[in-house]
Amino acid sequence: MNTIPVSEAPRSLLIRILRHNPCDPDSAPHFESFELEEAEAMTLFIALNEIRQTLDPSLQFDFVCRAGICGSCGMIINGRPGLACRTLTRDLPQCITLAPLPGFELIGDLSVNTGKWMRGMAERLETWVHAQHLERVDIDQLEQRMEPELAEKLYELERCIECGCCIAACGTAQMHEDFVGAVGLNQVTRFHLDPRDERSDAEFYQLVGDETGVFGCMTLLGCEDYCPKDLPLATQIAFLRRRMVATAR
Ligand code: SF4
Ligand code: F3S
Ligand code: FES
Repeated sequence: MNTIPVSEAPRSLLIRILRHNPCDPDSAPHFESFELEEAEAMTLFIALNEIRQTLDPSLQFDFVCRAGICGSCGMIINGRPGLACRTLTRDLPQCITLAPLPGFELIGDLSVNTGKWMRGMAERLETWVHAQHLERVDIDQLEQRMEPELAEKLYELERCIECGCCIAACGTAQMHEDFVGAVGLNQVTRFHLDPRDERSDAEFYQLVGDETGVFGCMTLLGCEDYCPKDLPLATQIAFLRRRMVATAR
């Protein structure tokens, strides 16, 4: 005799969100709880949208791509940094606590200004190819040959989506606001390896050869543990540190 499978009743989720509007002098950080029914394949992105649409239209959070590409939905999920659009509620307990990423300017609730931080870091570390010959636009020179292994390595480092999870997960970055973090050191490694970049070892050393760069990293490894793109950040930092030590000799 065939038995009809009994479908499990959907869970009732309790989502606690740290709320604060820094632009409102009367606002103080506090948790607010929302209950909603879990749906099939529900992500935190879907859950937060449902809360905003049906329970509280004033809730602030950031999303663009919903596919783990734009890096805008980073937040603290039950104490750990992660991307809300790539986090399924079924992988979390029934009670979910959400907070904004620390280390960035708070815009409101779960929305932080990672863009301002990343722009400041990029300007400081000059994260673009420095090459005199590129100032004369010549397509043959722009399209130089590169060994496939090296191109693959650069591509790997370029997968960073600037989500800020490595900064939120790093004790050094939380204590020292000048620390460029794993995201910055990853960028420097990327341009250091690029044969089109004409900067010398000494010039790279000037950028990150102190405690705001490679020598500030205490190898806490939170960056690598919570990078949603699984970038080998600790390896890059160790590589850069060895190069910096050799340059300083
Ligand atoms: Fe996000 Fe990883 Fe890039 Fe850090 S290195 S910003 S965690 S993608
Ligand atoms: Fe921070 Fe990662 Fe270094 S967590 S201390 S940048 S290894
Ligand atoms: Fe783009 Fe999550 S919305 S990474």
